[in-house]
Amino acid sequence: MNVDLLLGLQWGDEGKGKIVDFLAPRYSMVARFQGGPNAGHTLEFDGIKHVLHQIPSGIFRNDIKNVIGNGVVLDPVIFKKEIEALAQFHLDPKKNLFISKKTQLIVPTHRLLDAAYEKAKGEKKIGSTLKGIGPTYQDKIARVGLRVGDIVSPHFKEKYHKLVEKHCAILKNHTIDYELEVLEQEFFQSITFLKEFPLIESEYFINDHINDGAKVLAEGAQGSLLDIDFGSYPFVTSSNTTSSGACSGLGIAPNKIGEVYGIFKAYCTRVGSGPFPTELFDTDGERMQKEGHEFGATTGRPRRCGWLDLPALKYAIMINGVTQLFMMKADVLSIFDKIKICTGYRRPGGKEMDIFPYEVVDDDLEPIYHEMDGWNVSLKGISEYELLPQALKNYVTYLEEELKVPINIVSVGPDRKETIWRSQVLA
Ligand code: GDP
Ligand code: IMO
Ligand code: MG
Repeated sequence: MNVDLLLGLQWGDEGKGKIVDFLAPRYSMVARFQGGPNAGHTLEFDGIKHVLHQIPSGIFRNDIKNVIGNGVVLDPVIFKKEIEALAQFHLDPKKNLFISKKTQLIVPTHRLLDAAYEKAKGEKKIGSTLKGIGPTYQDKIARVGLRVGDIVSPHFKEKYHKLVEKHCAILKNHTIDYELEVLEQEFFQSITFLKEFPLIESEYFINDHINDGAKVLAEGAQGSLLDIDFGSYPFVTSSNTTSSGACSGLGIAPNKIGEVYGIFKAYCTRVGSGPFPTELFDTDGERMQKEGHEFGATTGRPRRCGWLDLPALKYAIMINGVTQLFMMKADVLSIFDKIKICTGYRRPGGKEMDIFPYEVVDDDLEPIYHEMDGWNVSLKGISEYELLPQALKNYVTYLEEELKVPINIVSVGPDRKETIWRSQVLA
């Protein structure tokens, strides 16, 4: 069981990048299995903040192999920019970054289609990151997509134009301005750049690695509540963000999976549209947003904020088979005298429920809150669990009792060092 999974349990942005970077030295491979440039994973160390979109968060460690798996959708233009931004850090990604030939390619018209579909939806828009994620996965499922392995084919341009012709026929029905030639010039330059990287049969590469006894960390993107099957549909992303996505997105069998690390913020955030039962529209929400610097790492949009939602968290734990929990951003809650935790919902007519419903409609779900004392002191400089304020330890204990899974990491700041490892039961 040499593969461990790190999965976001909420609506994304739980702090996956920070934790992958923190855990990376215990692994010899970090692999992304779904999503694409919609992700924005932040890592902070040595006083520098890095945001990665498509590159796995093990890239800053030269001895770690990083894999972009078959389940990912890759935008070569964004990829080139990301790699170029790393140049100043003396890394050698051409040696430790491997890309599956089966990874789907995002072409410029996928991005245009994303924008066109969102515009057509008007007020019902998903709030997509406009990176072309939905249209690219749509083409994958329709069996017309382009894969990274295609770029070395002498027929690549032919295949590309065939796909783009289809896209342009759809775009004719939408009012959207674009200059395809300009976008294509950048795209083909990026394709040439992409060819300089090892393009591999990643399922063999990863399984050989596992069979040699080496350890793999699969880095999830987005979060369980954005999963295409189990999230707050239709306000979701277009991939399986939950543990099953790691098997299909990397070609690893379920019996190879060991630990499933579930990561959650001590409160909740969401960026983009869609239901959010515990969302705060008052000054508490504003303070949480300000204190947590809650702005999207990919789009810069302000993130909506609210209290922790236990029915949603329990649902995510169940779907993923979480074995250990990591709680992030505990420091942000230091500003509150009282902290609320949603334990269930009250429906119109007074009926109570504690499951995450088929259709999440905010107006129909009034959160039922359990209130606890806050700790109200700065956590700066605390590096041992025992030294944390008692009210925070009470919060952790209460959550563990409710969730029935141990919380083994409490994160108290964005830096790699601001991570309190409560128990060494990790891999
Ligand atoms: P990801 O997409 O799950 O990797 O998360 P993001 O990087 O999009 O968003 C998490 C944000 O919270 C980033 O700005 C991190 O630097 C920051 N962060 C992570 N852990 C902590 C923490 O414990 N405390 C605080 N204050 N910030 C944190
Ligand atoms: P990370 O990996 C937070 C949201 C978008 C939108 C919906 C669909 O950083 O946690 P898409 O572009 O995927 O079609 O958008 O999903 N979304 C994210 N929200 N963090 C992310 O990634 C997200 N990736 C997509 O805001 O509501
Ligand atoms: Mg993010």
